[in-house]
Amino acid sequence: MSADPHEPALVLSGATKSFGANLAVDGVSFSLAKGHVHALLGGNGSGKSTLIKMLAGVERGDGGTVAIRGHSIPLAEMTPARATAAGLRFVHQQRSTFPELTIAENLAIGGNGFPVGAGGRVRWRAARREAARVLAKYDIDAHPDQLLGELGPARQAMVAIARALQTGHADNGILVLDEPTVSLPDTEVRLLLDAVRRHADQGQTVLLVTHRLEEVFSVADNAILLRNGQLVAEVAPRSITRADLVELIVGRAVDEIAPDTSAERGPIVLEAQSLCAGPVGPVDLTLHAGEVVGVAGLVGSGRSSLLKSLFGVLPIESGSVRLHGTALRLGTPRDAMRAGIAFVPENRAEDAAFQELSVNDNMSVAVLLDYWRGGRLRAGVQRRDARDLLSRFLIKAQSVDESLSALSGGNQQKVIVSRWLRRAPQVVLLDEPTQGVDVGARHEIYLLIREAVEAGAVALVASSDSEELAAICDRVLVLRGGRIVGELSRDELTSSRVERLAHGQEKEVTL
Ligand SMILES: Nc1ncnc2c1ncn2[C@@H]1O[C@H](COP(=O)(O)OP(=O)(O)OP(=O)(O)O)[C@@H](O)[C@H]1O
Ligand SMILES: [Mg+2]
Repeated sequence: MSADPHEPALVLSGATKSFGANLAVDGVSFSLAKGHVHALLGGNGSGKSTLIKMLAGVERGDGGTVAIRGHSIPLAEMTPARATAAGLRFVHQQRSTFPELTIAENLAIGGNGFPVGAGGRVRWRAARREAARVLAKYDIDAHPDQLLGELGPARQAMVAIARALQTGHADNGILVLDEPTVSLPDTEVRLLLDAVRRHADQGQTVLLVTHRLEEVFSVADNAILLRNGQLVAEVAPRSITRADLVELIVGRAVDEIAPDTSAERGPIVLEAQSLCAGPVGPVDLTLHAGEVVGVAGLVGSGRSSLLKSLFGVLPIESGSVRLHGTALRLGTPRDAMRAGIAFVPENRAEDAAFQELSVNDNMSVAVLLDYWRGGRLRAGVQRRDARDLLSRFLIKAQSVDESLSALSGGNQQKVIVSRWLRRAPQVVLLDEPTQGVDVGARHEIYLLIREAVEAGAVALVASSDSEELAAICDRVLVLRGGRIVGELSRDELTSSRVERLAHGQEKEVTL
C-alpha cells in the first residue's frame, strides 16, 4: 500500500511507562524496517514485555506514540482493537491459549471466530477444516479435535503463533513474539525460526524477544537492546561478536565459560530400579553425589514425567527408588521434600508459582516449616534470607514484599529456582531451569547447581537446550518413548550427539 518501500513499517517514539516508582520503559524510540526480523533484547526486567504490552494496548502507556503506515497513535490511547486494526499481531509471554479446549476451538477463539451457519449454530465441521488447514500450513503435528493441553509446550507455542498469524495482514502485518521459543527443543526452534524467516520474506515485519542469542544470530536482521527500560543500542548481529552482544545486554562482560565439571563422583545418592510411572519406564538410574546429570529427549519423550515421578507428583506404578540406600516411599511432594528432594517444574505459571503471594513467601514455600519456632513464624529471619536470595540471583524486584505477578517472567523463574536451591537438597530435579532467564542470570544458575552438587547433592537437569546440557552436565541420559536409549559421558558429550540420540539417528547404547 505504501508508495515508499523504504518507509519503516513501524516507528515508536518516546515510549514511557512506570509502575509506581518503577520506570519500566523510559523514553524508548526505534523504527522497524518492513520485512525484517528485529530482535528485542535485554536482561530480565529490562522492559521488553511491558513495551510489547503497550503496543498491544493491554498496558496503558504513560507517554509516547507509535506510527504505523502513516497513522500515529498515542500509546496512552492504544487499545487491543486499534492494535489489531493497525495490523499488529501478538503472541505474549503468558500465552492466552486454553489448554482445556480443543485446538480447533483455540484457533477459532483467537482468529476469525467460529464459523456460524443459519440459525446461529456453530459450524463445527468448517471450524475443524479451517483448523486442519492452519495446522498443515504451519507444519504442526496435531489434530484439530485434540485438547491443546495434551500437546507438549512446544506444540502449544506453535499453535499460539499460528493463531496469531491466521488472520494477519497477509503481506504487510507486524508480528510480535515474546519469547516464543522458550522450552522448545533445538530442532523445533529451527523449524519455528524458519517459519518466522519465511513470513518476513513475504513482507511481514517481525519483532522477536528471546534470550537465546544463537537465535539472534541465525534469524535477526537487527537487534534492539534495552537495559533498565532504556534503549542502549541498535546493532546488526552480523557485525558483532557474541561476547560483545552479551556485554551490551548485561552491562558488563560475562564469562560464559561453564563451571568446571571435574568434581569427584561421590557415593550413590539415588538409585531407581525398573521405575515405571505414566509414560516412563522401565528405567534404571544410579546417581552419585557430585554429579550433574542431564536428561535429554524430544518433547513427549518422558523427561518431565521422569522428574515428576521422583518428586511424587506422578504416581510410581512399579519399581523402587532408594535414597542413600534406604527405600523411599514417594507418594506426595511432601514425602519427597522431607527426604531432601527438590523440584523446579517446567510449567512455572501453573505448577510452581503463587502469583498473588509476595516474592518473600514464594521463596519460602519450600522451607516454611523451618521458620516456625515455638509456635511463631520468625518473619525477620525469613525476610533477611529472602533479601539475600534477591541479591545473589540478581532478581529484579522493588522489594521482597512485591507480589510475584509484578515481576518479569525471567525474574519469576529465578525466584522459583532460588526457592529450592536454598534448602541444601540431596537431590535437585530441575526441568528447564533457565527457560526465559537472561544470559547473565543463566550463568548464575549454573554456578548454583554446581555449588549444590559440590556440597554432596546430585542434580538431574532436563532441558530441551542440548547446548546447555553439553555445557553443564557430567553426563547426559537420553530418553525416547519413556526409556533411556543412550548415555553420553563427559568426553562424548556434544550437543549434536545429544540431538542425534534423541532423534534415534545414532545407534542405541545398550545399558
Ligand atoms: N504489572 C506490573 N506491576 C508492577 N510492576 C511491573 C508489572 N509488570 C512489569 N513490572 C515491572 O516492570 C519492569 C519491566 O518488566 P518486563 O516484564 O517488561 O521485563 P522483561 O524485559 O520482559 O523481562 P523478562 O526477560 O524477564 O521477561 C520490571 O521491573 C517489572 O518488575
Ligand atoms: Mg518479558
